[in-house]
Amino acid sequence: MGFHRILVQLTWVGVISSVMVAATDTQFPSALPNCPDRCGELEIPYPFGLTEDCYLNGTNGSTEFLIACGNKFGIPEPKIGDFLVTNISVQEGQIEIMMDNDIDCYYKNGTPQSNVMRKRSLTNPIFTISHTKNKFVSVGCDTYAYLKGFRNDKRFSSVCLSVCDSKSDVVNGSCSGIGCCQTNIPEGLKNITVEANSLSNHEFVWEFNPCGYAFIIREDKFNFSSAYLNTLRNNKTLPVVLDWTIDSEKCDLARNKSDYICGGNSTCVNSTYGSGYRCKCNDGYRGNPYLDHGCQDIDECKVKDNNNCTSKQKCVNKPGSYDCLCIEAYHMDVSERVCVPDRSAGQSSLAIYLAVGLFSLLVLLLGYSWIYWGLKRRKLIKLKEKFFQQNGGLLLKQRLSNHQMSVETTKIFTTEELKKATNNCNESRVLGQGGYGTVYKGVLSDNTMVAIKKSKIGDQSQIEQFINEMIVLTQINHRNVVKLFGCCLETEVPLLVYEFITNGTLSNHIHDKSLSSLLSWEKRLKIATETAGALAYLHSSASMPIIHRDVKTTNILLDDNYTAKVADFGASRLVPLDQTQLNTLVQGTLGYLDPEYMQTSQLTEKSDVYSFGVVMAELLTGKKALSFDRPEIDRNLAISFVSAIKEDRLLQILEDNIVNEVKIEQLKEVANLAKGCLSLRGEDRPSMKEVAAELERLRIMEKHSLGNIDVYAKKTEHLLSATSHSFNVDVDIGCSASTTVEYDSIGDQVLKSVEDGR
Ligand SMILES: *[C@@H]1O[C@H](CO)[C@@H](O)[C@H](O)[C@H]1NC(C)=O
Ligand SMILES: *[C@@H]1O[C@H](CO)[C@@H](O)[C@H](O)[C@H]1NC(C)=O
Ligand SMILES: *[C@@H]1O[C@H](CO)[C@@H](O)[C@H](O)[C@H]1NC(C)=O
Ligand SMILES: *[C@@H]1O[C@H](CO)[C@@H](O)[C@H](O)[C@H]1NC(C)=O
Ligand SMILES: *[C@@H]1O[C@H](CO)[C@@H](O)[C@H](O)[C@H]1NC(C)=O
Ligand SMILES: *[C@@H]1O[C@H](CO)[C@@H](O)[C@H](O)[C@H]1NC(C)=O
Ligand SMILES: *[C@@H]1O[C@H](CO)[C@@H](O)[C@H](O)[C@H]1NC(C)=O
Ligand SMILES: *[C@@H]1O[C@H](CO)[C@@H](O)[C@H](O)[C@H]1NC(C)=O
Ligand SMILES: *[C@@H]1O[C@H](CO)[C@@H](O)[C@H](O)[C@H]1NC(C)=O
Ligand SMILES: *[C@@H]1O[C@H](CO)[C@@H](O)[C@H](O)[C@H]1NC(C)=O
Ligand SMILES: *[C@@H]1O[C@H](CO)[C@@H](O)[C@H](O)[C@H]1NC(C)=O
Repeated sequence: MGFHRILVQLTWVGVISSVMVAATDTQFPSALPNCPDRCGELEIPYPFGLTEDCYLNGTNGSTEFLIACGNKFGIPEPKIGDFLVTNISVQEGQIEIMMDNDIDCYYKNGTPQSNVMRKRSLTNPIFTISHTKNKFVSVGCDTYAYLKGFRNDKRFSSVCLSVCDSKSDVVNGSCSGIGCCQTNIPEGLKNITVEANSLSNHEFVWEFNPCGYAFIIREDKFNFSSAYLNTLRNNKTLPVVLDWTIDSEKCDLARNKSDYICGGNSTCVNSTYGSGYRCKCNDGYRGNPYLDHGCQDIDECKVKDNNNCTSKQKCVNKPGSYDCLCIEAYHMDVSERVCVPDRSAGQSSLAIYLAVGLFSLLVLLLGYSWIYWGLKRRKLIKLKEKFFQQNGGLLLKQRLSNHQMSVETTKIFTTEELKKATNNCNESRVLGQGGYGTVYKGVLSDNTMVAIKKSKIGDQSQIEQFINEMIVLTQINHRNVVKLFGCCLETEVPLLVYEFITNGTLSNHIHDKSLSSLLSWEKRLKIATETAGALAYLHSSASMPIIHRDVKTTNILLDDNYTAKVADFGASRLVPLDQTQLNTLVQGTLGYLDPEYMQTSQLTEKSDVYSFGVVMAELLTGKKALSFDRPEIDRNLAISFVSAIKEDRLLQILEDNIVNEVKIEQLKEVANLAKGCLSLRGEDRPSMKEVAAELERLRIMEKHSLGNIDVYAKKTEHLLSATSHSFNVDVDIGCSASTTVEYDSIGDQVLKSVEDGR
C-alpha cells in the first residue's frame, strides 16, 4: 500500500516537472509563429528556418538562412547547403556544422586512391570560420595541407606540413608537425576549402600511414592520437563552428533600413570582423532577439543562482532585473544593502499597523496647532539662548563668579523691553554710530532715559569688550562714572543699557566752536577735577583697582550741569590687589597713549595718568590730542604742550577764551600739573589721587577768587541746554580703541572749521 502511494506521488512529480519544462519552452519561442522550430533533435531558431516564410530572406530572396530538414535512414537530418547542422546558437551567433575532412590515400605502390568526396567549399556569405573555436589541422606522416579561402574578398591561403619516419615518433596529445600539424584560423575567413597532398605519395610511411588528412575542427573536439593516422579515414566530416551575421551593414546603418530585424528589448551588435550585425537581448532578458517579442524578461527569482537575495530577503522580479525586498519584520538598513530586524519585530500584524497609523494620524491632527505654536516658541527660545551664549552670557557668568560679585545691581533687560524703549530701533533714536556699533536713545517704561549701545553684528572681540565693560561697571558706583543699568544678551548682538548723559562728550564741547566758547575755565576745572576724582577712585577706592586704559575727551560725557561722567570701560582692566602692573596687548588711543606703556606693554595706573594729562592739555589749549592738520612738530599735543611750557610759550598755546578769564598763575599751575602727568617715565608722574587733590585745591582757590564766573555760567545755562541738542555724531558711549581714528578725524574737522572761522 505504502509503496504504491509513493510511486503515484513520484509519477505526479514527474508530470508536474514536465509541464513546467514545456511552459518555460513556450515562454521563449525561438521560431516565427506557426513555424516549425525543430528538425529532429536540433532546435532551429529564427532567422534560420525550415520552410519558406520561416527563415530570414536574404537580399534578392537568397536562402542563406534556410535549413533543409532531410531524412537519412528515417532520422531527420538538418542541412544548410550541403552541410549537416549539429547546433545553432542565437545567443553566440554561432552554428556548428560538419565539414569535410579531405582524405588523401595511396596504394602501397604510391598511386593515389581515387578520392570519392568532391571538394566542397563553404560559400554561404553569412558564415565566417570562428577563429576562436577552430583549428586547421593536417594529419599524416607525408602530408602537406592547404587551407584556402577569402578574407575581406581577398584570397587567403595557409599550409600545414606534417611528417614522421616512424609511428613511435608521434606523441599522443601533441600536434606540432610530427604526424600532426595544426594552425590557427585568421579572423574573418570565408568561403574556405581544404586540401591534403603528399610529398612522396606515402611511399616510405605507407606501412603505418597510407593516408593524409586536412580539415578544420572544433579545437575542443580534437586531441591527436597516433591512432588517427589510420582511423581518420572513417571520419568523412568533422565538426566546425561558424560565426553568422545578418549580412548587411553595420548597426548604425542597418538600424535605418527596413529589413532591420532586432526585436524589442534587444540591441544591435556589430560583427567583430567585416560587415553585418547581430542582435542581442538586453541584460536581464533572454530569448530570441531576432523575433519581435523574442527577448523576454528573465525571472531571476525563479532560480536561486540568478539572484543575490539573502535569506532575509524576498526576491521580486521586475523588467530587466529584480529587487531584493526585506521579508516581514525586517527593513533595509541605511546603506540599503542588508536587511536588519525591525525594532518591534514580531508586532507585524496588519491590525497593529493600522491601529498605530490611525492613532498617529489622530495625534497629528489634534496636536497640529499645538505642535506648530510650540515649535515656533521653542525655536524663539532656542535662538535667544543661542544668542545669550554667543554674546558671552557664559563668559559673563564665569567672570562674575570669579570676582565673587553679584549681578543684583545689574538688570537683565528683555528684548521686548528694549525694543519698546528704542521705539523698535527707530532711526530717530540713533545718538551715534561708529566702528563699535550704534548708540540709541531710549525711554524705559518708568520714563528713565537710557542710552543703549548695540555692538556690531558678529564681532567676537566686540562682544568680549562688552562683557568686560559690564563686569567693570558693575564694580563701580561713583557719581562721575557713567552708570550701567543693565544689559540684554538675548538678541543677536549684546546690548548695554546706560544712564542717559544728556550733554554729549567733552571732546565735542572743547572742539565745537560754539560750544567751546561756553566752556568756561571754571567748568573746565570742574570737569578735570571730577574726572581725576573718578579715575583716582577707580585706581584706589574700588574693591579691585581698575585701570581705564582709554582715558580721552570722547570718553568723558557731560550732563546738563557739566558734571563729568567717565565712560567706556571696554578696554579697562581689573588689577588684582597683589599686582601693580600687568602685561597686556597695548590698547588705547593714539595721542593719549602712554609712551612708556607703548614701549614696554606694561600696564600701570600711571598710564591713565598720562592720558589724563593729555585731557588736561586739551582742556587748556582747546587743541586735539592728535591732528594731522598741524605741522609735524605740533601734531602730538602732549609733546608740543610740554615743549611749550619748557620754552615758556604757554600763553601762545592756551585757549583764548580762558586766558582772558583767569589769572595766568592759576593756568600755569594747572599746566604744570598736566606737564607732570605727561612725564615720559611713569614713576615721575603723580598718582591720580595726588592729581585729584591738587585740582580740588586749585578749584577751591578759583571759586574764592572768581565768584562772578558762577553768575556768568548760570546766565548761559538755558542757552547751553538749547545747544545741547546739536551734538549727535560724536556721542561715544564706549567706543573701542579701533574706532578712535574715526572720531579723531571728526574732531579734526571740527577743529579745522573752528580754526578756519577764526
Ligand atoms: C521571403 O520571400 C518570399 C518570396 O520572395 C516570401 O514569400 C516570404 O514571405 C518571405 N519571407 C519572409 C520571412 O519575409
Ligand atoms: C540583387 O539584385 C539586383 C538586381 O536584380 C542586383 O543588382 C544586385 O547585385 C543583387 N544583390 C545581390 C546581393 O545579389
Ligand atoms: C549547442 O551549443 C551550445 C553552446 O554553444 C551547447 O550548450 C549545447 O549543448 C549545444 N547543443 C548540442 C545539441 O550540441
Ligand atoms: C596513443 O593512443 C592510442 C589509443 O588512443 C594508443 O593505442 C597508443 O598506444 C598511444 N600511444 C602512445 C605513445 O601512448
Ligand atoms: C589528449 O590526450 C592525451 C593522451 O592521449 C591526454 O594526456 C590529454 O590530457 C588529452 N588532452 C585533452 C585536452 O583532452
Ligand atoms: C568561393 O571560392 C570559390 C573557389 O575558391 C570561388 O570560385 C568563388 O567565387 C568564391 N565565392 C565567393 C562568394 O567568394
Ligand atoms: C571519428 O568518428 C568516430 C566514430 O564516429 C568518433 O568516435 C570519433 O570521435 C571521430 N573522431 C573525431 C576526431 O571526431
Ligand atoms: C537614421 O535615421 C534617423 C532618423 O530616422 C536619422 O536621424 C539618422 O541620421 C539616420 N542614420 C543614418 C546613419 O543614416
Ligand atoms: C520589453 O520587455 C518588457 C518587460 O518584459 C515588455 O513589457 C515589453 O513588451 C517588451 N518590449 C517589446 C517591444 O517586446
Ligand atoms: C558599429 O560599427 C560602426 C562602424 O565601424 C560604428 O560607427 C558603430 O559605432 C558601431 N556600433 C556599435 C554598436 O558598436
Ligand atoms: C551576485 O553578486 C556578486 C558580487 O556582488 C556578483 O558578482 C554576481 O554577478 C551577482 N549575481 C547575480 C545573479 O546578480
